Formats: sequence, C-alpha cells, structure tokens
Amino acid sequence: MSTATALRGDVLASQDFVIRKLDGAFGAEILGLDLGATLDDEDFARVHAAHLEHHLVVFRDQRITPRQHIDFSRRFGKLMIHVLHQYHLPGHPEILTVSNIIEDGKPVGLGDAGKYWHSDISYKALPSLGSLLHAQELPAEGGDTLFADMHLAYDTLPAHLRKAVDGKRAVHSYLAKYGQMQKDGNWRPQLSEQQLAQVQEVVHPVVRTHPESGRKALFVSEGFTTRIEGLPEDESAALLEALFAHSIKPEHVYRHRWQPHDLVFWDNRSLIHLAAGCPPHLRRKLYRTTIEGDAPY
Ligand code: SIN
Repeated sequence: MSTATALRGDVLASQDFVIRKLDGAFGAEILGLDLGATLDDEDFARVHAAHLEHHLVVFRDQRITPRQHIDFSRRFGKLMIHVLHQYHLPGHPEILTVSNIIEDGKPVGLGDAGKYWHSDISYKALPSLGSLLHAQELPAEGGDTLFADMHLAYDTLPAHLRKAVDGKRAVHSYLAKYGQMQKDGNWRPQLSEQQLAQVQEVVHPVVRTHPESGRKALFVSEGFTTRIEGLPEDESAALLEALFAHSIKPEHVYRHRWQPHDLVFWDNRSLIHLAAGCPPHLRRKLYRTTIEGDAPY
C-alpha cells in the first residue's frame, strides 16, 4: 500500500485491491486499498457495491488522517454531527471520539458508546445510512464490536412475529437508555435544552425496506426503540423483547476483532451493533463518522 506517499487529494487510478468475504453470514475485508488517496470512480463503485452486498466492509491498515476519514465518508452522503459536542474530535465536529481514556481528569471520548445494541442515530427522522469507525488505540484484550444482520433477522422471523410486526411503527428515542447510562458511568453529561431539542423522539416502521437493495430488515433495537405504537404497554414490551432476542441470535452475528488501523464501514439500514467492552484500565480509542440516510419506509 502506498498510503505513506499518498497526499490528500491524490487520485490513485484503479488501485489493485482485493475484496474478501469474511467467515460468517455477512461482512468482507478489503485489502490493498489506500483511503488516503481519492478513489477514482471505478474503485469507488466497487467499494459501494461491496458495502451493499456485504453490509460491512473492513478496510485493513488505513493510516489515514481525520481529514481523509471525513473526505472519504462524505462521498457517501452528508455527515451527521453528534449531539454530544463534548466528544467531537477538536477541530473536526464530524468525528465522534469513542474512547474509555481519561486525560487530566476529563474523558477524551464517549466511553460507553454502543453499550446497547442499536442502529446509529435511529432516533432521528433521517437515521444514518452507515458509519465508519477507525481504530486509533486498541486494548490488548477485549474491545470487540458485534454486528447483527437485520435482513436475516427479518427473513427468519417466526410466522407469529412476522404477523405481529406487519404494518407496525415504533418509537425511537435517544433518551431510552440515557438515564441508565448516567447511573452506570461518568460519560453522559446532563443535556442542555438545546441538545434536548435535537433529540425529540421519532417514529419509524418496525420493518424497513433498504432504499438501495430493496431488501426488508427489522428496524428496532434495545438501545433506542422504546415502544410499538398502537399496542398496550405490556404487549409492546413483550413484542420488542421477542424481536430484540431474535435479532441477535448467534447465527445473525459477526464479531469484529479489531486489528491495528482497521476502518470498519457498516450499513446502519441493514445491521445493528454493540460494543462488547474491555477492561477499563486498557486504553481504547476510535474515531467515528456517521452518514445521514433516508427516512425509513
Ligand atoms: C458505536 O456504537 O458506534 C461504538 C462501537 C464500538 O465502540 O465498538
């Protein structure tokens, strides 16, 4: 790879890279591609197609700057700015720092990001198309990220659950687990009025259609989905619990074991994810960009 020599804005004509399927239900790794250079249209089209087909691609060995990470992410759409501005990478509000590191008594990033299964920013009217998470510092032990395939979850839904979700809509709220996370750790500040105004709850279909592939996927998660519209509270809770349990069956899940300089790009319309956590004394830091998507239908 010629990352070290690629300057910002360089276009490396049709790079010689390999897309290799990972073991498991979904996911692929991309070897030999330099995201530090601007991809030509042909390479970009290959990456885009791989992302759609595999739902998650791992670009190995990306020694790129935050600027290059942002520039590459922007080719897929508008970037979302996370409501917790406290954890923006200084100078780069498009990047959310995900980290358990405390420096000078202050957290450098959001230490409990991904503690519950979720699809990024599903609590907005326009949830995320996909996210790109770039490893900066990895712990010697733990720190994996788990992903679950929500197309597979929909395709394998038992008949009674498929009937129960037909035509249903569910409420998504940023605050669903916020109070609990405030109790469990020190990462979640009190939200200002301005921040609260940015995270008003929204309603989305329980089953969405992927706008590019046309495939159906379950679109609920324990992290942000609070109730199903039109059902009594107890029925809504029981149905959500059954959907959450079904979504994360082992056969739907890929566990990403991070390698240095990995950049993982997943499709939030197809997958939910979870940070498995690591021993608190081991440093972990990653940078995340999040691309805005369409209104689910
Ligand atoms: C996230 O949910 O975006 C963070 C995932 C991780 O830290 O593994």
